[in-house]
Amino acid sequence: MKQVKVLEQQALTEISQAADTNTLEELRVRYIGKNGQIKQLLRSVGSLSPEERPLFGQRINRANAAVTEALKVRQQDMHTAKRTTQTGLDRSLPGRRPKTGHKHPLTLIREEVVAVFGSMGFTVADGPEIELDYYNFEALNIPRDHPARDTQDTFYINDEVVLRTHTSSVQIRVMEKESPPVRVIAPGRCYRHENPDASHAFTFHQCEGLYVDNGVTLANLKGDLTYFARQIFGPDMEVRFRPDFFPFTEPSVEYAFSCPYCKRAGCSVCKGSGWIEIAGAGMVDPAVFGFVGYDPEEFSGYAFGMGLDRLAMIKYGIESISLFLENDLRFLKQG
Ligand code: PHE
Repeated sequence: MKQVKVLEQQALTEISQAADTNTLEELRVRYIGKNGQIKQLLRSVGSLSPEERPLFGQRINRANAAVTEALKVRQQDMHTAKRTTQTGLDRSLPGRRPKTGHKHPLTLIREEVVAVFGSMGFTVADGPEIELDYYNFEALNIPRDHPARDTQDTFYINDEVVLRTHTSSVQIRVMEKESPPVRVIAPGRCYRHENPDASHAFTFHQCEGLYVDNGVTLANLKGDLTYFARQIFGPDMEVRFRPDFFPFTEPSVEYAFSCPYCKRAGCSVCKGSGWIEIAGAGMVDPAVFGFVGYDPEEFSGYAFGMGLDRLAMIKYGIESISLFLENDLRFLKQG
């Protein structure tokens, strides 16, 4: 027994000290090759008494396994070391996994909104965020001294240029260029000088909708927005319309979606009311048609705005609008 142990120790030491693969091969032949010393010991088992045989045999097998393993490990080490010194790089190291990004919640909701309205025949229109006062206010029937300007705390660049306070400016840009039928949505970023809280930030996102054709009525607006709500939040959704005022629509409404969390029973998301306000809408005011040269006798249309941040907050259960802007990976990675 002792003999086996000594031989095993000797083999392991020599293997650990071997300088190159040739030496390793010599050691392999010497110890575990066909006529190697360990194999020879195994052959001597026959000369032992039957009681001694099994224990001795097992011990030799263990020594054989240990030496085989040590040879393998040393061989791999040499291989790696060789590659490392040749190139200065250890190519056997596991790679660094690239960080895959994913879409921001506002992108996700915008894509959904575009897809639903797209299925209803709306195309996407765009307009600048740094906008002329004319498109943001004047042509929307909001003259300079109009009190409606006070409700939209505006960032003025100068007398003529503002950061757009809503996407309604795109209505004018589209109608200036195209004649009816017009069916567009315009998602995009807006700016207002708001006091920040959980649902207000200096920048936010809206999606404008505009549909002008022969004989468009408020019934189209109600039907389309209800269809939209059900596509986004499910078939139980209800939409509430209440009278409101906007200088560029007549009549005007504000509309709200039934709270998808409590189904109108009242919860913290809808602040107990059962409804969540989405934005304003109405029938395009004939005065606006005057600015773009449409004949109000021939055409009528509806327009709506919707808060995309608000939709995303409801859909994904996000509590504060500021999270969209903070670029905190702990938030963004949850997508
Ligand atoms: N632009 C309005 C707002 O930001 C919403 C609106 C859009 C109202 C279109 C009527 C028609 O509050």
